[in-house]
Amino acid sequence: MNKETLIQKIKEKKELSGLDDSVILEVLEKAVSQSKVNLQTAKKAEIKDLIKKSRAELRKFSGRFTSSFEERLSLLKENKIQELIKTHSSTRERLDFYPTLNNLIKNLRIKSILDLGCGLNPIAIAFENPRIEYYPCDINNNDLKIVKEFFKKENISGKVFFYDLRKKDQKLPKVDLCLIMKVFDVVEQQGHKLAERIINSVNAKYFLISFSTKTLSGKPMNHPQRGWIERLLSRLGYNFQIINHKNEIFYLASKTKESVSL
Ligand SMILES: C[S@@+](CC[C@H](N)C(=O)[O-])C[C@H]1O[C@@H](n2cnc3c(N)ncnc32)[C@H](O)[C@@H]1O
Repeated sequence: MNKETLIQKIKEKKELSGLDDSVILEVLEKAVSQSKVNLQTAKKAEIKDLIKKSRAELRKFSGRFTSSFEERLSLLKENKIQELIKTHSSTRERLDFYPTLNNLIKNLRIKSILDLGCGLNPIAIAFENPRIEYYPCDINNNDLKIVKEFFKKENISGKVFFYDLRKKDQKLPKVDLCLIMKVFDVVEQQGHKLAERIINSVNAKYFLISFSTKTLSGKPMNHPQRGWIERLLSRLGYNFQIINHKNEIFYLASKTKESVSL
């Protein structure tokens, strides 16, 4: 079986269907080299195992959501924005935090946002702040397509683009605020070198970095604060404020000294 056919097979799962082929190929090649299988002569069971292993690895990157791409597109067309943003677990879980976030954006006089690993978050924010120049990126092409359609419909300026945070390929736009929400736990598999490189590669006045504070089984974490990000931000010369919200902890970081009222 060739790699292209395998990629399409892996993508048959709804939650993986939006992932970019380049991301799937990388994971698949790793699984092939680890299992030492020859794709040309592989038996059915070996192919099945490769697909299973690749999917398990890819699920770590993909968000959890309940609707297909087509269902989401219909919600957008019918202007059911609240329902649309509820189809992604991260935006759904912070629905009642958005008013605080929107206040923050207003108080800080934010004019431009870079949203790394954006999911559907740009829709929730740009809906209330349509004049902001917005740069959302992700490796999930389905999420990016929905965000792009929404931006077109609402005339939001900026650019929706594919960007793999593990690579150093593109220059990122300079912005007032960079959002990295519930992303570091997903992209960082070992240590925190990548988080440091990402923060250093962004030219933003403010960062808003968040983490889930529940375990995979849904229970509250015993130690929800991330000591490592606090130490990292301090070492890089950032001041930060912590904002706790139900199942999520936010770090608002900046090199300026001013403290922000929420
Ligand atoms: C838990 S979701 C959070 C989505 C959004 N930031 C939010 O909080 O609403 C994690 C997001 O990171 C994206 N992601 C995972 N690995 C990535 C990578 N290497 N580069 C860019 N985005 C990535 C996923 O596609 C997904 O949209």
